[in-house]
Amino acid sequence: MRAVSIFCAMEQKNVSPALSSLDQATSAEARSESRRETVFSGMQPSGGFHIGNYLGAVRDWVALQEQHHCFYCIVDLHALTQPYSPTEMPSRVLDMAVELLACGIDPERSTLFVQSHVPEHTELAWILSTVAPFGELSRMTQFKEKGDRAEYINCGLFTYPVLMAADILLYKATRVPVGEDQIQHLELAREIVRRFNARFGEPALFPEPLPLHRTPLRIMGLDGKTKMSKSLGNYVAISDEPDVIRKKIGSAFTDELRLRKKDPGHPESCYVCGLEPFFMQPEQVTELQEGCRSARIGCVDSKRALAEAMIAKLKPIQDRKAQLLSKPGFVEEVLRSGAAQARKVAKATVSEVRDRLGLFPMGHSASV
Ligand code: TYM
Repeated sequence: MRAVSIFCAMEQKNVSPALSSLDQATSAEARSESRRETVFSGMQPSGGFHIGNYLGAVRDWVALQEQHHCFYCIVDLHALTQPYSPTEMPSRVLDMAVELLACGIDPERSTLFVQSHVPEHTELAWILSTVAPFGELSRMTQFKEKGDRAEYINCGLFTYPVLMAADILLYKATRVPVGEDQIQHLELAREIVRRFNARFGEPALFPEPLPLHRTPLRIMGLDGKTKMSKSLGNYVAISDEPDVIRKKIGSAFTDELRLRKKDPGHPESCYVCGLEPFFMQPEQVTELQEGCRSARIGCVDSKRALAEAMIAKLKPIQDRKAQLLSKPGFVEEVLRSGAAQARKVAKATVSEVRDRLGLFPMGHSASV
């Protein structure tokens, strides 16, 4: 994993001074791939697009579109597995599309669409469920965690990773930029590919999809104890107003060993210091962290500096969001055209799959 602790942001090879230069770093990584690959990734429209989503996945989505053939999907069918309000769903989907575009997803270069607009996702999911291993599905950590929190466990929660595999395989994607929490699902998708190809191959129909990073990110929540997540409410949303960010960072977890301001701090075990490299220039990070170590500055100063840096980095995204909201119909059109492009590819794959499975073709006059 690229980061499993609150010090996620501290690992040097992944540390970058600001979101913009992080984008450049991952884009250089993407450019170094000489082959144009097919990329697929998705995000649930469950409200509260947060900095964990951005840092763990979406900034890579943006970088990858420079070089690769990218499909980015708002996975509304996955979101049905959690309690939700049907009346709010359309605005959540639209809001997520606006925020993805504001982050830099370019509809001229990437296919951005809504999962339920391409019915082949559910068709392939059913087919894959007939090869997916039950035992492995029951061992999925996210199923166990969400199941423990749920009032009752619906089957969709259990087969969730099969729908995810269908999403990826419909486009024969080879790269899947995701955060650390989705890696187990991606491994299961590879297992499903191996089983499908073994049973219905030659030649193999699907490539094995790989994550983008060997050590994907896990950004921890403001409590410093659990993963930043929409459902736990421990997040900073990319649309949060400056005062909300100040308040949230002000209440964030810091160095437990530093009881008084005059005690020397331990930036390597401080949640706030861990986030600094994602939002600040390296010199500012060094200065703040040396100040913390020597007790020259206190945790409140570090929090203030982080909050201001975050506000500044999120401002361009928030400004673009406001611009997009002032163009009525634009986002709907992006999603309509994205679904049409995605569907062409999805239909072709499903037709190959039906053929491999030996399903009786429509309009075929069998001689009995
Ligand atoms: P979702 O909607 O929970 O999250 C979207 C993306 O954000 C990443 N992420 C994080 N990364 C680092 N730190 C965090 N705290 C953090 N929280 C979220 C997630 O890893 C993800 O990349 N099942 C998926 C959506 C999906 C999908 C797919 C992804 C459906 N089909 C096919 C890839 C390929 C999900 O619920 O992501």
